[in-house]
Amino acid sequence: MSGMTEGEACEWRMRGSLRLNAKMVGLRGSRGYKTEMSSIVAVLNQKGGVGKTTTAVNVATYLAREGQKVLLVDLDPQANSTSGLGVQRAEGEAGTYEVMLGQTKAMDVVKPVFDRLHLMPTDARLAALEIELVDQTDREKALRNALAGADDYDYVIIDCPPALSLLTINALTAADSLLIPVQAEYYALEGLSQLLQVVQMVRSGLNPNLELLGVVMTMYDPRTTLSSQVKGEVERHFGDKVFDVVIPRNVRLAEAPSHGKPIADYDKWSKGARAYKNLAKEVHKRVQKGKSK
Ligand SMILES: Nc1ncnc2c1ncn2[C@@H]1O[C@H](COP(=O)(O)OP(=O)(O)OP(=O)(O)O)[C@@H](O)[C@H]1O
Ligand SMILES: [Mg+2]
Repeated sequence: MSGMTEGEACEWRMRGSLRLNAKMVGLRGSRGYKTEMSSIVAVLNQKGGVGKTTTAVNVATYLAREGQKVLLVDLDPQANSTSGLGVQRAEGEAGTYEVMLGQTKAMDVVKPVFDRLHLMPTDARLAALEIELVDQTDREKALRNALAGADDYDYVIIDCPPALSLLTINALTAADSLLIPVQAEYYALEGLSQLLQVVQMVRSGLNPNLELLGVVMTMYDPRTTLSSQVKGEVERHFGDKVFDVVIPRNVRLAEAPSHGKPIADYDKWSKGARAYKNLAKEVHKRVQKGKSK
């Protein structure tokens, strides 16, 4: 693509990248759109490194700080939510893996991070789960069944792995709604049509009530035209499903996990902290609005 301006290159990439838009799969206020929402939220984008964990950890933390009782489920074998919150585990201690296999109950593995925020921790063993589940008849419902015993929460936030796999199908089957972080960069929209196809597949069978809660722009840099172009393109496809709050690129957000802290504890005055605090408010507002319809 030599010789193209940044804008032209962006346009080129996006052309054809999202043939199947939100409306086509019935997720954007078209007729028949089911508005009732409850509060199991899967944070999912099969693209790696777009801000899923950062979003899950910090939205969960701010919801809890605002008075909600929250369970954060680490559904990624990379265990970034677990380490990012500084949760220590003994070698071989039970977590998401054992709960989804039905070997132990959710409430027996959750760890308090602070009084209103609990974590269902995980480790690399979760990667083997897909193989373990493959012969089970209800393999897509393992997480839903596991969470049935964890109904004491106002919110369950699920941090998904970067894949469209049995683990993510489990998340979509268990969830009431889906939050998609989209990184404000060149290949942002790539793969979203595939993601929406999987969502549609789950809606037509395993979980007809699954909603799109919203799409949030992450790592936004207001100084680049690319960021605003990507945002414009995402808004064209997802309309008012795009959250008003935009998450800026902010080094404090990247530093916080290495200290085992959410941004609220690491640097509550940073731009990133303010953005996630506002995003949690917007998430809460949308969930409540969905419930009241
Ligand atoms: N707004 C931001 N500003 C700066 N850095 C960020 C921001 N959001 C996330 N990061 C950093 O970018 C990297 C990827 O973010 P994160 O781990 O949240 O993405 P992910 O989608 O969960 O990744 P994976 O697909 O591997 O699970 C991390 O190092 C994180 O600290
Ligand atoms: Mg992650």
